[in-house]
Amino acid sequence: MEAMSRTLDRIDWPVRTERLTLRPATFEDAEATWRFRSLPEVGQWITRAATDHDAYVHWFMHPDSIDLTIVIELDGEVIGDLMLRVFDPWAQAEVREAAAGTQAELGWSLHPDHGGRGYATEAVRAALALCFERLGLRRVTAECFAENEASWRLMERLGMRREAHTVKDSLHRDGTWRDGLLYAILAEEWPVDRSVTQR
Ligand SMILES: CC(C)(COP(=O)(O)OP(=O)(O)OC[C@H]1O[C@@H](n2cnc3c(N)ncnc32)[C@H](O)[C@@H]1OP(=O)(O)O)[C@@H](O)C(=O)NCCC(=O)NCCS
Repeated sequence: MEAMSRTLDRIDWPVRTERLTLRPATFEDAEATWRFRSLPEVGQWITRAATDHDAYVHWFMHPDSIDLTIVIELDGEVIGDLMLRVFDPWAQAEVREAAAGTQAELGWSLHPDHGGRGYATEAVRAALALCFERLGLRRVTAECFAENEASWRLMERLGMRREAHTVKDSLHRDGTWRDGLLYAILAEEWPVDRSVTQR
């Protein structure tokens, strides 16, 4: 799999949308992202609950995390983050190389103080544009718990297709097995987005 640091290096940063600026995360973003990731209403849906500050900062700064993380800024303030992970889709052995690095998974979090104004939609739209128009990927996916309606509605607003509803396959940290949703969109389904401008 291609190293994510090299993937983000292929993009001219910052990326500006109508209201937001996107850029790769730096160590200094640990505090700003902690502020929303440590909130229960955010933490309940994401892979790793941020409950211990020092452990969170340690995790955030690890290359496996920070190299996948893009921060979302509004007027210079970090209000959310995106995860962009390029990976190799399944392929038969003889064509494995042709498939390598052609797919990405996206993830997102937004400070609830800034929810309900379309900022997450605007940022994820920009991330999809980067995946297809800058990185030349062929498919982008995202997954969430089925009860995470804000997340799957965001995906549907952006034209992503619900491809799977998995039944009680995902273990929540509260001990309950939950349904999951997989969404995806192909490059040929992606409309050209003129709101993403490069420097
Ligand atoms: C998922 C998450 C980012 C969605 O946040 P959000 O505020 O619903 O998303 P947006 O910022 O795009 O705002 C969309 C809302 O603003 C409204 N809106 C206002 N102006 C808008 C605009 N210009 N464009 C789009 N939507 C707009 C939409 O109608 C929508 O409201 P609705 O849900 O009542 O219909 C947020 O809930 C979150 O961070 N959750 C916790 C973390 C999480 O779940 N991560 C994903 C794990 S899989």
